[in-house]
Amino acid sequence: MSDRIPLLIDTDPGVDDALALLMAFNDPRHEVVGLAIAAGNVGLAHTVRNALKLREVAGCPQVPVFAGCDRPLVHAPREDAAHVHGRDGFGDVGYPDPAGQAEAEHAALAILRLSHEHAGRLVLVALGPLTNLALALRLDPTLPQRIARLVVMGGAVSAHGNITPVAEFNVGFDPEAAHVVLSGFPKYDLADWEATIAHGFHHREVEKWLAAGSPRARFYEEISRQTRLWSEDRRGDHWHSADALAMAWALEPEGALETAERPVAVETEGRLTRGLTAVDWNRQTGAPDNARILLRYDQARFDARVKAALAAG
Ligand code: BDR
Ligand code: CA
Repeated sequence: MSDRIPLLIDTDPGVDDALALLMAFNDPRHEVVGLAIAAGNVGLAHTVRNALKLREVAGCPQVPVFAGCDRPLVHAPREDAAHVHGRDGFGDVGYPDPAGQAEAEHAALAILRLSHEHAGRLVLVALGPLTNLALALRLDPTLPQRIARLVVMGGAVSAHGNITPVAEFNVGFDPEAAHVVLSGFPKYDLADWEATIAHGFHHREVEKWLAAGSPRARFYEEISRQTRLWSEDRRGDHWHSADALAMAWALEPEGALETAERPVAVETEGRLTRGLTAVDWNRQTGAPDNARILLRYDQARFDARVKAALAAG
């Protein structure tokens, strides 16, 4: 068994997922042991294909890709995020087919198997809707006992949502799954949308990194172009990469400068509030502090890690 920390990533690639995956593949302290894929940003056929392509671009074609759930647990999603990530989730640039294919094993079963193979050491990072993880948890409620650390990109901790006024995309896409996971894991790390907004990169700076000329930078420049233009038009000078921030924290916990531990619950009903992550900031409910919420991360470390992932260092 390798000395490196085993890392299992549940994801729905996605332009920001792609950056997070490049960061993970580039990290010498961690070994990516699998990519569990869900539908989210776009449909499952695209997210699986994108994961296969990304592992190839990162020079890690041996890392297994497991296709998982092609829809939320209970309700049809309100909408996907094709308007941000492109219809294929990778900017519609028409990249050539990846070599290889996904494993036959379902992502939820792979999560459980890998949790046994790496019991007590496995770091699990969830970058998409929590559907696969919820299913795994329902199949085997002892799963959290074998996970060293769960890092979730999801939620909006003061209800400044990005998919509805109050809901963040990953939680809003499948609130029932988010409820199952965020109430089923006694402890987890939460990198929410509001932390994302507080840790942007200046567009002109990103363009410099992307001009590095490495195959990774070139591929990433192409697939992110559409979403960067969209972001500059909508959100101004800074570009935000939610999944990359969660991954930076997962890979380098020392970079967290400020966190807060609080109870978090997911609203699954509500005409206006479905998908809200309700944080008990004043500890009024008596519920345990299940979430460690990221408030501030070392921006210099974050920048350096992204640059290194793009081979732009
Ligand atoms: C999250 O939603 C998705 O669109 C992104 O990939 C990220 O995981 C941000 O709300
Ligand atoms: Ca994602």
